[in-house]
Amino acid sequence: MNHQTENPIKVRLLKSDDFNSVVLLDSKLRGGENRQDYWEKKFAIFRMRHPNLSLVAELDGHLVGYAMGNISGWEFGVSECTGWVELIGVDPGCRRLHLGQELVAELLHQFRSLNVVTIYTLFTASNQEMRKFFSSIGFTEGQLIHFQINIP
Ligand SMILES: CC(C)(COP(=O)(O)OP(=O)(O)OC[C@H]1O[C@@H](n2cnc3c(N)ncnc32)[C@H](O)[C@@H]1OP(=O)(O)O)[C@@H](O)C(=O)NCCC(=O)NCCS
Repeated sequence: MNHQTENPIKVRLLKSDDFNSVVLLDSKLRGGENRQDYWEKKFAIFRMRHPNLSLVAELDGHLVGYAMGNISGWEFGVSECTGWVELIGVDPGCRRLHLGQELVAELLHQFRSLNVVTIYTLFTASNQEMRKFFSSIGFTEGQLIHFQINIP
């Protein structure tokens, strides 16, 4: 998907062989927690989705990032054919190298090729990193309101 051969970043589709690398990366992102069971379920879900919406990034041949998207069909009253950036993560040792940017750019390219042109994502209001990252690539704050309850 990269046309510049000198670019050490390669964004490509997720393969089932990537499972261990994704679990390892997720563990780095979550302070050492191993979530093999979670990722087994996720990989099963990804297999049911459009294959072009599950992407990974390699830097010098090592898997160091992922971005997974989905297309919704009226869940939460959001119109069908809305794209979602559902998961994104870049190895903490490889940040600010535009890996995240390249992953999302490719995801947006894939959405467009599927005629999906409105893309949402969610993160907590206090997450300045995600706010700055998504703002830097053109996302703006939307109109969804998050309601919650804590059950005693
Ligand atoms: C957000 C995240 C994906 C960004 O990945 P990245 O590869 O480091 O980001 P990029 O290098 O592509 O950054 C692109 C631009 O976003 C902005 N940006 C990214 N991270 C930033 C930060 N920590 N602070 C300020 N701006 C930031 C900058 O404008 C940057 O461009 P610049 O470096 O040329 O100034 C990464 O920090 C990450 O994985 N965070 C954890 C995400 C997470 O919690 N995921 C789980 C739930 S989905």
